[in-house]
Parts: sequence; structure tokens; C-alpha cells
Amino acid sequence: MTSFSGNSTKTSLYADTWQANLRIYARIFALLRPHWFQSFGAVACLGLSTGLSLIIPWLIATVIATGLQHGQLNNLLYIALAILVSSALRGLFAYGQGYLSQSVSNLVAYDLRNQVYDHLQKLSFAFHDESETGQLMSRLTVDIEAVRNFITLGLLRGLLTLVTFVAITIILFRLDVYLALVTLISVPILIFLSIQVARRLRPLWMDVQNENGALGTVMQESLSGVRVVKAFAREEFEIAKFGAKNQELRTLNMSAMRLSAWNQPLMILVINIITVLIVWIGGVAVIGHRLSLPVLVAIAQYILLLSTPVRSFGFMVTWFMRGLSGGERIFSVLDVQSTITDAPNARTLKNVQGHVAFEHVSFAYNNGPEVLNDINIDAKPGQIIALLGATGSGKSTILSLLPRFYDPTQGRLTIDGNGVREVTQRSLRQNIGLVLQDVFLFNATLRDNIAYGVANATDEQIIAAAKVARIHDFALTLPDGYDTWVGERGVTLSGGQKQRVAIARTLLLNPRILVLDDSTSSVDMETEYLIQQALDAVMNGRTTFVVASRLRTIKNADQILILDKGSIVERGTHESLLALNGAYTRLYDLQLREQEEFETRMLSVQNKDSLYGSDVSHSPVQEDGRDRCIASSSEETTNQPDKKREVTR
Ligand SMILES: Nc1ncnc2c1ncn2[C@@H]1O[C@H](COP(=O)(O)OP(=O)(O)OP(=O)(O)O)[C@@H](O)[C@H]1O
Ligand SMILES: [Mg+2]
Repeated sequence: MTSFSGNSTKTSLYADTWQANLRIYARIFALLRPHWFQSFGAVACLGLSTGLSLIIPWLIATVIATGLQHGQLNNLLYIALAILVSSALRGLFAYGQGYLSQSVSNLVAYDLRNQVYDHLQKLSFAFHDESETGQLMSRLTVDIEAVRNFITLGLLRGLLTLVTFVAITIILFRLDVYLALVTLISVPILIFLSIQVARRLRPLWMDVQNENGALGTVMQESLSGVRVVKAFAREEFEIAKFGAKNQELRTLNMSAMRLSAWNQPLMILVINIITVLIVWIGGVAVIGHRLSLPVLVAIAQYILLLSTPVRSFGFMVTWFMRGLSGGERIFSVLDVQSTITDAPNARTLKNVQGHVAFEHVSFAYNNGPEVLNDINIDAKPGQIIALLGATGSGKSTILSLLPRFYDPTQGRLTIDGNGVREVTQRSLRQNIGLVLQDVFLFNATLRDNIAYGVANATDEQIIAAAKVARIHDFALTLPDGYDTWVGERGVTLSGGQKQRVAIARTLLLNPRILVLDDSTSSVDMETEYLIQQALDAVMNGRTTFVVASRLRTIKNADQILILDKGSIVERGTHESLLALNGAYTRLYDLQLREQEEFETRMLSVQNKDSLYGSDVSHSPVQEDGRDRCIASSSEETTNQPDKKREVTR
């Protein structure tokens, strides 16, 4: 099987048994089934135009025999007319065949693109962790194009060649058995040549297509990481990296093309030698009165007719091999089963209260070392669970298990007693609001980004969410307000702004369970404070899992979990953990104590109402606005009273 990373380019692990190849062709063939009508039409037109083209030499022979040799002018006229009509009809059917075959191949490419894209969207995180974007994108483009061309230039042309060959052979046998046998000598030679070339082309084209993917990966990576490239002044390095890959692709392409190009004249040579043999042997027969001249002319015409498909035979072999490689690469993606799937009897998670439990959960990424070990968490509805721990201790990993981005290797997770594996992923994720560590925004307007999870959100709801997330005032300062485009990944926004847009986006979903992996390393204390306020508002009344780096969140948490190398080493509240004088106290002294001072200062400034204006920080309008937006953004949860947190702050 082909790998989805570029590592496969050196050693293409293609399946090279003829059975495997046949299976790929059969699967491509099956793609034609939904378009059987057009496919049938294309084949019918092909048959008719071939048939008509075969009549013409016969008509010419008749012209010579009747019109010229016997001087019958009338017959000559009729036959000339017949030649004209059949030529016109032949052109018409050739057009039909060209049009229909292009239409079929484009429909197949369209279907394949949709299929692959849908499948990629459904595949699990584990798959995407291991794949390269460039390799996946090249499957959607180059490989699908290879399959499309295979259908028109390989499959249909192949059929054309076969039909023409068989028909001409039959005609030749009827005209002159001896000369027909001479023609047939070419068959084994042509087949032998094709197999030889196909064998050598197969790995070459697989390499070309893999290399295309690798080039895509280099391009995608250096373009999306262009800021890092420039920051480290590594443009030359990236240009050289791209240049090397481009050179590799060119070399491979050239070797494949050289082989293909060599194949074609070889085939023409074979057919020309056959023509010479026929003219020679036939000529001798005519002189010896064993064969009539019109028959020899007809035979020579048929051999010439044969040379066109045979000439394209060389390129057909190429398209057969490219289609095979492309098909294999496409099917290798389509055949990947998502490791995260809905159980056959999965229920819809409804009326969520927000009781979340981790029961003896252990986890490892892709059979790697254990990242989480025997995690037990019992989060009551509305509680805030703060996760603390050194970098790499497994905080984000814990959070990613809840929406089933990955399944634990041991233990289970439940929401209100329902195992997360027993409910549909869609309903599970609709009830879990996520603000991830790396905020990703789409190249769309601010409004569209906020409304990403709720397609039919009204402007009021969007603005209400933006207010709670403390991004509304910023939005008003933009020239186009909420209609401002944020650029790819939201490049035109600052780190803190992006984070608050992400919070607004999650808020609009109105989930009962919140998962906040908020890294604030990129934002200043003031922005951090704004985000903190936004989060406080968002967390209210929801079960919240938060990777906390802020004292206020931690102090407000009902449970603080201290993680170390994938295990929970301490748990409790701020006071109880401080009393333990253990890992939490050390963290507090190192990271949190200084925040205490800042918070106090910020609060006093804000109380004077001088920094951000009263409507931004603590106006009752926002809270109302939030409730309004929440109440109408999701029907599923409207019947649940907004449970107030049991813990007073
Ligand atoms: N997709 C992945 N595939 C393989 N290993 C991973 C993957 N993501 C994380 N890891 C590993 O799992 C461990 C825990 O990572 P995790 O991201 O959960 O840490 P974290 O506590 O969130 O750290 P940070 O505070 O830096 O965000 C790390 O050793 C990391 O290398
Ligand atoms: Mg993390």
C-alpha cells in the first residue's frame, strides 16, 4: 500500500501482481456504472464510427472494381456519394464518441473528488497526524486527473484499437487468408513490446505520482510556514529544497516520457514493416494473377487504417500505467478505515446535563509510549476542572479524548452515564465546545468565522457571542466591521484577538460541556485579562475542562488536577492543594503568585471604569445578550435551564 507521507517516494510500495492490478482496473471500471448511459453511448458511437471507417476502403475497392475497371459512370457516382455520406456520418459519431467519453471521464473525476474529499473529512485524527497535506492534495488533483485521462485516452482508445484490430483481421481473412496471416504476425510483436514497456513504466509512473505529492508537501509547508521561513532568513534553503524536489520530478517525468516516446515509433515500425510485406507479397500475387488489384488496394487501405490506433498504442500503454498508479494511490486513501467510527447502534446524545467521567483511562498515540496512565476524573454538571502540569504532561491529550478525537487504549469516558463510544460523534461534538491550543480561523469574514459552528446564526446572536467573548469592540474598530476578511488562518488578527474569536465561535454553539485548551503564551497580560473575563462568562453554568495558566481560573476551579508524565499526581481545590505543600505549591510559587498582584491592580483600574468603558467589561446587556444568543442558537438545549454553578465565586 502507498503511504500518505513523502517517505514512500524512494521505494514505491506498489502492488505489482497482475491480480492486484486487475482489481484496480476493475474498481476504476466500476466508477463508470452510475454513468452507464453515457458510457454506453460513447462505446456505441465508437463502434459506429469505426464501422463506418471500415466501410470506406471497401467502397474505394468497389469504385476501382466497378467504376474504373468496367467504366460504369453511374455506379461511380453512387459510390462516391456513399463515401461522402459515410465519411460525414463517421465524423458525426466520432464527435459523439469524443464528447460522451469526455463527459463520462469528467463525471468520474467529479465523483472521485467528492468521494476522496468526503472520506478525508471523515478520517480520524490519527490518520491526519500521519499524513502529509501535499500528498493528500495531489491525490485529489494529479491522481484523479490520471484516472480521468486513463478513461478517455486509455480505456476507450484501447477499446477502439481492439475493435478496429479484430474487425480488420476478420475483413482481411475474408479478402485474402494468406495476407491476413501475414498481418497477424504483428499481434504477438505488439503485445510483447507493450508488456515490456508497461512493466518498466509502472514503477516509473508510481514514482512520478508520489514525487508529485512530495513536491506538493514541500510547497504547502514552505508557503504556509512562510513567516517562519522569512524570520529565519531561510528562503534560499526553501528554494533549494523545492528545486531539488522539482528536479527529481522532472528527471522521473523525463524517464517515463522517454520510455513512452520510444514505444510509439517502435509500434509504427512494426506496422510499417507489415505494410511493406503486404504490398510486396500482394503485389507479387497481383502480377501472378492470384489476387485482383482492387482487393490489394482494399487490403493496403485496411493496413493503413490499422496504423492509426497502433500508433496511439504507445501512449495508451502510458495512460494505462498512469491510471493504475493514480487509481492505486486514490483507493489506498479510500480504503483507510477511520479508527473512530460510530457504533452501529449509536444513540444521539440529548439533554446533556454535563456529568463527565474518566474511568481508568490510559492512552498512547499510534501504539507509541503511554501518554496517559490511569486517569480518573469525575466532573459534576457545571463544575470547572482545571488541568495543570508541565509541558508534554498530557493535558491537551486528556482534552482530545472527550470529543473522541482519539479513543483511549484502556478505560472509558462517559457523559451523563453514556459512554462516548455509544453515542454518535456528531451529537457528542455538538455538545462539547472546544477552544483549542492552536486557534485556527478560516479565510472568511469575522462574522463567518464566529458563525462557523451554527450555520443559521442571526446577526444578534453573533454580536451577543462576540460581546461575551470581548471581541465586539474590536470588531467595530475594523473598517468593514464583522464583514472584514481575516485572511488565511486569521493572519490579520493578533494572537489574543484570534483566541477571542475562537471563544465567540464556541460560545455560539452553546455547549453544555466546554473544553478550553488556552495557551496564553502569545498574549500580553492585558489581553490575557480580557480573555479571562470572556472565559469566566463562557464557563458559567457549564461543565468546563480547562488547561489553566491563569490564577483566577485555577482559584475558581472546583477541581484542580496536577498532571505529571501522564498521571494525576495531585488533586483538590486551590486551598487544599496549597495546604499539601506539594507539586501545586511549587507551581504556584513559580508561575501564579505574580498574577495575583496584576489581577488586583487590573480590578482596581477597572472599577474606576476608565480602561475599557462600562459596556465592555461588565454590562448586564452582555449577559442578557449571551443568554439570548444561547437560548436561540441550539434548540436541543433550550429545554434545559441554565444550571448555575454550585460553587460560589
Ligand atoms: N499527535 C500526536 N502524536 C504522537 N504523540 C503526540 C501527539 N500529540 C502529543 N503527543 C505527545 O504526547 C505527550 C503529551 O502531549 P500533550 O500535547 O498532551 O501535552 P500538554 O500537556 O498539552 O503540553 P503543553 O502544555 O505543551 O500544551 C507529549 O509527549 C507529546 O509529544
Ligand atoms: Mg497542550
